[in-house]
Amino acid sequence: VVCAHASPAGHCPPGLDSFSHATADVAERVLTSRAWRVARRDLNAERFDPVQPTGEAQNTTSRDDLVERHCAELAAADLIGVFHPNCWGQPPAILKGWIERVFRLDTAYSYAQGVGFESVPVGLLKARRALVFNTSDTTAACEAEVFGDPLDTLWRRYVFGLCGVSDVSRRCYGPVAGSAAEQRHAWLLEVEAIVNAAALTPR
Ligand SMILES: Cc1cc2nc3c(=O)[nH]c(=O)nc-3n(C[C@H](O)[C@H](O)[C@H](O)COP(=O)(O)O)c2cc1C
Repeated sequence: VVCAHASPAGHCPPGLDSFSHATADVAERVLTSRAWRVARRDLNAERFDPVQPTGEAQNTTSRDDLVERHCAELAAADLIGVFHPNCWGQPPAILKGWIERVFRLDTAYSYAQGVGFESVPVGLLKARRALVFNTSDTTAACEAEVFGDPLDTLWRRYVFGLCGVSDVSRRCYGPVAGSAAEQRHAWLLEVEAIVNAAALTPR
């Protein structure tokens, strides 16, 4: 399993007491208890560099060893988990850069022989399943009705759809700001149930 999580830059200290962090903790605990090997990546803690440098425009290899390690883990994973807050309807910048650098050409997707970049790519990832856990200050209903839930399109249709991961389970918890301890506890129990079900499904 690859689990990546991140917090908005500027949270102080980033991520350490965030609810996203708590959802990732639960997922890691459940998966480990079910004998899954978890490659957990806290992008803020490991200071992942989200900026793709000049000279890597082809985006098939990187001089950054950390990017190469992430790519190898992603390619080998049977299950992928992402955990992050909503930032303007997008992932935090550090996680956006992780998508750009790690879900790359010839690692996560490619093109059929003789077909150009204008065509729809072919997914290369081995994982067929992904779990996405988001937090926000809106409710899930408001996010969907008022904003069209862009994170759902991003993860389900773009990132995972394009890379061959067909089974995407996504939940968005909110409003997190001012949420009661009982509410957070109930959300974490739901995370536990979702991850547990995924852990028991054959790989
Ligand atoms: C730069 C920035 C942009 C944000 N944009 C949104 C947004 O568009 N919609 C929303 O509901 N919350 C937004 N938030 C609030 C965060 O999603 C919220 O603080 C977070 O989900 C709290 O959960 P956490 O404890 O996991 O960090 C934003 C926060 C920051 C710092």
